[in-house]
Amino acid sequence: MAQYDLLLKGGTVVSHAGMASADIGVLNGRIAAIGDLPEAAAETVIDCRGLHVLPGVIDTQVHFREPGHEHKEDLATGSRAAVLGGVTAVFEMPNTAPPTTTEDAVRDKIARATGRMYCDFAFYVGASAENVMDLPRLERLPGVAGVKVFMGSSTGSLLVDDDETLLRVLSVIQRRAAFHSEDEARLKARLNVRIPGEPASHPQWRDVQTALTSTKRLLTLACKAGKRIHVLHVSTAEELPLLALARDFATVEVTPQHLTLTAEEAYAELGTFAQMNPPIREGRHRKALWRAVNSGLVDVIGSDHAPHTKDEKARPYPESPSGMPGVQTLLPIMLDHVNAGRLTLLRLVDLVCEGPHRVFQIAGKGRIAEGYDADFTIVDLKAERVIEESWLASKCGWSPFLGRRVRGWPVGTIVRGRRVMWEGEVIGDPEGAPVRFMETLNAAA
Ligand code: DOR
Repeated sequence: MAQYDLLLKGGTVVSHAGMASADIGVLNGRIAAIGDLPEAAAETVIDCRGLHVLPGVIDTQVHFREPGHEHKEDLATGSRAAVLGGVTAVFEMPNTAPPTTTEDAVRDKIARATGRMYCDFAFYVGASAENVMDLPRLERLPGVAGVKVFMGSSTGSLLVDDDETLLRVLSVIQRRAAFHSEDEARLKARLNVRIPGEPASHPQWRDVQTALTSTKRLLTLACKAGKRIHVLHVSTAEELPLLALARDFATVEVTPQHLTLTAEEAYAELGTFAQMNPPIREGRHRKALWRAVNSGLVDVIGSDHAPHTKDEKARPYPESPSGMPGVQTLLPIMLDHVNAGRLTLLRLVDLVCEGPHRVFQIAGKGRIAEGYDADFTIVDLKAERVIEESWLASKCGWSPFLGRRVRGWPVGTIVRGRRVMWEGEVIGDPEGAPVRFMETLNAAA
């Protein structure tokens, strides 16, 4: 009789093979068997009947603020928010203080994460004019997801805004790099478009042209350098046809916020709490982003979890910082969209599991397949819940989606065979580990 450490019984398994009822046997943190396993025994058996078993959800864009801004979030609280939201691994952004631009800073983050994070993790290295020549070494460090470039300034001081430096960055790196694509020169030239006290002027300042000019430049430079790029939080209808022409080397992320909120409503309802970069825009952009989700142009959904305290967000525009939390609400919001018929559950798995696996060449995650890490997100598609403050684990203590009733909810989060969340409770010890990448398998930990 087969003996496993963990057995998931009778769930509807959502995988590359489609959706079908199956048991999953886990041994030593990896998937050992999938199918009808009536004879199997295990130390822990979880009854998954009535539930859907997804590959572990990977959020490839979060800001957990440690070190430097721990009053907003830290790696421990961010990871609790992640697993409560069904997220099994996160890629964390480099605009911390100090920024993650050196080997010491990367090693410091990994040391801080180890023993404190419940989910698995990887960190981006920030590009700056000063560290260009170090990037080939830095992007190969263990636990590094790749290089992140801010082409337009947002929270923090990281910025590479001139074509010459951008081309140098693209020329030296080998892995796919991630870009915040907004044109800094245009942002600077149009600072006076911001109307004090009027957060609705944020998308007028950071307008379509700001995103479009930047993305055009980025695509030209990446093509010239022959390098792969990942364009983060794409927000305009106008960028999409350009990205569609660049599929050989460019991948695309959108956020649940841009798929859910519109300028027409969000600034009136949420004020500065709806302020993020790139901004929430008019409904026509949201419509275009949904079309791109369903045409296959979008590769990944990332939350851009960017927490700021309520006090900080309540400052009058434009003193208010940009960013909203989202790692915990990514899946509930997207499952609600599945239930509303806006995308299929299989497409959602493609966007938050298989997409990250493909785009970032993650080793052993993103699929429910024999030999892969036993990361699972178990969801109740029928559960109706209201997103409440008491459920949120982020230090910032708010969400743009507070009070929203959603259908579809994460019931359990399993990381490498260990249950870390069940029915709203975080369980056990924080034993998150660095994500492994195919391109840097021989990087010494
Ligand atoms: O709105 C944003 N906030 N966009 C970013 O790119 C950065 C983020 C942050 O770190 O606060």
